[in-house]
Amino acid sequence: MTKYLINNKANRNAFSCIFATLIAMSFTLAQSAESTFALADKCPPSFALDNNNQCQLRNLYQLYDSLQDRGLGGLKTALPKHRDGFSPQQIDLGRLLFFDPVLSADKNLSCANCHNPTLGFSDGMDRSVGARGQVSQRSSPTLWNSAFLSVFLWDARAHSLEEQAIGPLFSDKEMANTPEQLLSNLNQVAAYPKLFEQAFPASKDALTIDNTVTALSAFQSSLISLNSAYDRYAHGDAKALSSHELEGLNVFRSFVARCSQCHTPPLFTNQQVAVIGTPEPAGLPRDVGAAETFNAKRLTGGFKVPTLRNIARTAPYMHSGRFATLREAAEFYTKGRGHAVPEGEELLLHWHISDPKLTDTELDRLVDFMGALSDESFMPKTPNQVPSGLLNTSTSLAAALEK
Ligand code: HEC
Ligand code: HEC
Repeated sequence: MTKYLINNKANRNAFSCIFATLIAMSFTLAQSAESTFALADKCPPSFALDNNNQCQLRNLYQLYDSLQDRGLGGLKTALPKHRDGFSPQQIDLGRLLFFDPVLSADKNLSCANCHNPTLGFSDGMDRSVGARGQVSQRSSPTLWNSAFLSVFLWDARAHSLEEQAIGPLFSDKEMANTPEQLLSNLNQVAAYPKLFEQAFPASKDALTIDNTVTALSAFQSSLISLNSAYDRYAHGDAKALSSHELEGLNVFRSFVARCSQCHTPPLFTNQQVAVIGTPEPAGLPRDVGAAETFNAKRLTGGFKVPTLRNIARTAPYMHSGRFATLREAAEFYTKGRGHAVPEGEELLLHWHISDPKLTDTELDRLVDFMGALSDESFMPKTPNQVPSGLLNTSTSLAAALEK
């Protein structure tokens, strides 16, 4: 399906068409009965409930104290600081909101349409399509492990999940809503006022934009993926990686390939911005990226180093979705420094972007290794129905597109 969608205008039109039909279908669904929705009182896996009804993260990396900012260390390296401390009810309300199209202006698009759990919380498109068919400039990133991020978006312009969530809700290119309209839409759904009261018992007025954003952040912070074959290897199970994956890890960590200098374990991102000179879609101008965020010309074409966790699920790759496969993405790094930068254009490429001259076998092994970063064992449950009754899972969109 992924390949089918890449860089193809006709498919985009087909997408809009099917999209419209699905919207029409979803409006015929009745609002679900209030009584069907009760919020969880247990934390998701990977979290322990404390005496204040807050979910606290627990994982093996917390046993290691070689902090990232004290050097790269080995594989037994602590994770960056994380978000937790949300209640089970807040996380579960966030899950319902995440899948509910009632959040968008036309009630046709949920967060999950662009961050589809079955596609690594990405959408399989080169660049995302918004509530009104607008093509966004960039591809949808995974949301796994966003609890550990302090830098969000390709151009590094947001610094918390809360700050980030305001973007899609009220952006013309995404859900195109307004704060007033969103509150009015949520209040019109029978179940929401009560669910918000349950999740935010201390708030006098529970159904607010702030609490909506908190619940969404709570849910996203619960998406933990730290049990891949790589993690088992890092924690000491020498047999967890196949010989091919292990060879790949060694190339990845080598000072020839230098992948791990930017895609630093255990998160596989150092959360810094780097200019590496990936190509733009044919005919489109250079996306200046972080140059705009930091008002710094030297960062033209600079993007946040993305995590490689669950990377096998989130094709196509790079900010523009320009590479269809992991093999193509890996190959980019060995085709010569700056090879994809159009003639006459000056980009200040990062010094780790060199010319490692990796062999075909080494590239294959890199792909094998990146495949060992997959772990979806704590996949949250997609609700069977959402409080508005408007559920249109992207799974059904994807299935429709495949026909
Ligand atoms: C129309 C598709 C679309 C919708 C709907 C959408 N997103 Fe996104 N999301 C994107 C794209 C595209 C990006 C990258 C944008 C950029 O970097 O400029 C993104 C980025 C993000 C990021 C940053 C991740 C990172 O690692 O930097 C988070 C978090 C996020 N979205 C959460 C949400 C939430 C929560 C919702 C629902 C309120 C939502 N998104 C709705 C397409 C979408
Ligand atoms: C100088 C830092 C740096 C180094 C070294 C580096 N990367 Fe990257 N990587 C990035 C940045 C920045 C991006 C996003 C670029 C873009 O979107 O245009 C990226 C993107 C990727 C992606 C796509 C991720 C996605 O979500 O679409 C893959 C796969 C990848 N790198 C693998 C590798 C491999 C394999 C190596 C070693 C051969 C490597 N990287 C070396 C900085 C680096």
